Amino acid sequence: MAASAGMSASAPGRHEVVVSVEDVTLSFGGVTSLSHVSLQQARGEILAVIGPNGAGKTSLFNCLTGVYVPQSGRIVFYSRRRGPVSIVGHRPHLVNRAGIARTFQTSRLFNALTAFENVKIGVESPQRTGPLGAMLHLPRTRREERESDSRTVELLEFVGLRGRSNDLASALPYGDRRRLEIARALGTGPELLLLDEPAAGTNPAEKAALAELIRDVNARMGVSVLLIEHDMGLVMSLADRIVVLNFGQVIASGTPAEVQRDPAVVEAYLGAPDPEDA
Ligand SMILES: Nc1ncnc2c1ncn2[C@@H]1O[C@H](COP(=O)(O)OP(=O)(O)O)[C@@H](O)[C@H]1O
Ligand SMILES: [Mg+2]
Repeated sequence: MAASAGMSASAPGRHEVVVSVEDVTLSFGGVTSLSHVSLQQARGEILAVIGPNGAGKTSLFNCLTGVYVPQSGRIVFYSRRRGPVSIVGHRPHLVNRAGIARTFQTSRLFNALTAFENVKIGVESPQRTGPLGAMLHLPRTRREERESDSRTVELLEFVGLRGRSNDLASALPYGDRRRLEIARALGTGPELLLLDEPAAGTNPAEKAALAELIRDVNARMGVSVLLIEHDMGLVMSLADRIVVLNFGQVIASGTPAEVQRDPAVVEAYLGAPDPEDA
């Protein structure tokens, strides 16, 4: 992937910023999903994106992963391995290889495969085999095979699913399926992990366990996390900073405490304050 040329002097240093979204606009026909969206995420940060349904959160993830190509704006990923990488115009598999992985709002697990096999697919993405070998469909060496097997086991252990390695994905409880998706995404060795509503539909115990897992991914693996989540308790406890989208625009950003008391946010998203609390 070509490094982005002509970084301006005012561009953030790549050691501080992991991804920078600059004035991104995305529309479908008459519908504007993202309107002049700018945001930056610091390396190592857990950044949450919140906002009502239809605000443009998933569209933003799709732009960050090469699924959608915005009509205007720039997205620069500051990879530790490769330096600045311009995302717009690159296909999803190249964005993934550059170091951005994601999970989806609705599950995309392979139900007919085991938990082990689901994770191993992530581990065996071309960045580990080497692009040339993948292109030529060269057989994997036994050493490569052993390495990806042991990495797969490590990741299953990390997300607490080692004991369920041989279970079909379809047989796992809902909370475990969400953890498995995270393990699969981690298999590609990302520097930045995008989670689209990871706790949606989980029960309180599963939610608490997911929060702990996300903290571990961030703190123990050193992965920056960009998180879309509706559960405010989870967002407030996990996020270092929050960006609020409404009708495709950034209407607020700041620490959880700052965002919580921002009048625009209260009006657009959190609901008017309860007079009982006054
Ligand atoms: N592929 C698409 N084609 C047409 N409209 C789309 C497409 N993807 C998203 N949109 C529109 O963009 C807006 C934002 O959607 P989305 O990003 O899914 O919001 P959120 O994830 O915040 O709920 C919605 O109006 C949605 O209908
Ligand atoms: Mg969405």
